[in-house]
Amino acid sequence: MSTKKVLLLPGDGIGQEITEEARKILNWLTKSKGVAIEVEEALIGGTAYDETGTPLPDDTVTKGKAADAVLLGAVGGTKWESLDYSVRPERGLLGIRKALDLFCNLRPAQVFPQLADASTLKKEVVAGIDIMVVRELSSGIYFGAPKGVETLPDGRKKGVNTLVYTTDEIDRIARAAFNVAMKRGKKVCSVDKANVLECTELWRDVVTEIQGKDYPEIELSHMYVDNAAMQLIRWPKQFDVIVTTNMFGDILSDEASMLTGSIGMLPSASLGDENALYEPIHGSAPDIAGKGVANPLAMILSVSMMLRYSLGMASEADAIDAAVNTVLDQGLRTQDIMQDGMKQVGTAEMGDAVLAALG
Ligand code: IPM
Ligand code: MG
Repeated sequence: MSTKKVLLLPGDGIGQEITEEARKILNWLTKSKGVAIEVEEALIGGTAYDETGTPLPDDTVTKGKAADAVLLGAVGGTKWESLDYSVRPERGLLGIRKALDLFCNLRPAQVFPQLADASTLKKEVVAGIDIMVVRELSSGIYFGAPKGVETLPDGRKKGVNTLVYTTDEIDRIARAAFNVAMKRGKKVCSVDKANVLECTELWRDVVTEIQGKDYPEIELSHMYVDNAAMQLIRWPKQFDVIVTTNMFGDILSDEASMLTGSIGMLPSASLGDENALYEPIHGSAPDIAGKGVANPLAMILSVSMMLRYSLGMASEADAIDAAVNTVLDQGLRTQDIMQDGMKQVGTAEMGDAVLAALG
């Protein structure tokens, strides 16, 4: 097998700590499994800003394009909150998504049976849920122009962001969602705000057209985003695949993660035609950064997703998923998923336990 190139971007806050645990898994693949993986590292986010004056150095984009996959920790932190938007850590993340044209963000929300009690919702509501949020990631209100804050002649200020989608952008994310659904329960719920926002009426029309033309086996439904937010809490098992815009997907995927008990358990994949990036859906958690208590499992599961979707190593991915299940069965918990009678461990201990379970 040819050598696979992985670019590691630790970023900020707990990103630095959890990517160390990802590195252990990558080393295990090389040492114990003889898999040829070459790991490079580059800067992104606030850490990159401190060192180079920009949250996304050109070198990071160049290396990202050359890699078979990018693994990212997290970006952001209170330290950089007063910076101008153009150089905020988050711009690094948005910038790399755009530069690598990562339009399709897969955010699975699955409940580990061992953690069904960890959700604030009743066990019977969340046990067994298996939802895939397919979030459009490279367009929409995050990127639309005009944007910014300007001062009007009378001294008032005006802030603007613009929701924009073109038919080709909707077409490709709809197809991505339908393709994912074909390998699952063949049900897609498209979430929009077509009763108010023209742009999402176009979204609904295009999604409907693509399904009618090319995906006759898919059961397609539509839901307004406010209702979807409610339905996710009321009866989450009604959902299989949810496809939605960049901002709605940002919000609904955080909501969906809470059904599972902890945002610290959920990985994600951001896919384009040429490139792919994998990251936990949680952020840099400045409140617990540097303390060695962050949950590394979402990061480790992101490695598994990378092996499965980008590197063609499904059996290694299965082994990692199984190892995560084993450590949960052993009763090991980081503080975010701690329950009575379990053993609380830190970031490195959890990573080591997964390694031990891998054998
Ligand atoms: C996410 C995050 C990012 C987003 C931030 C950090 C820019 O919340 O990946 O969900 O809004 O996309
Ligand atoms: Mg988010």
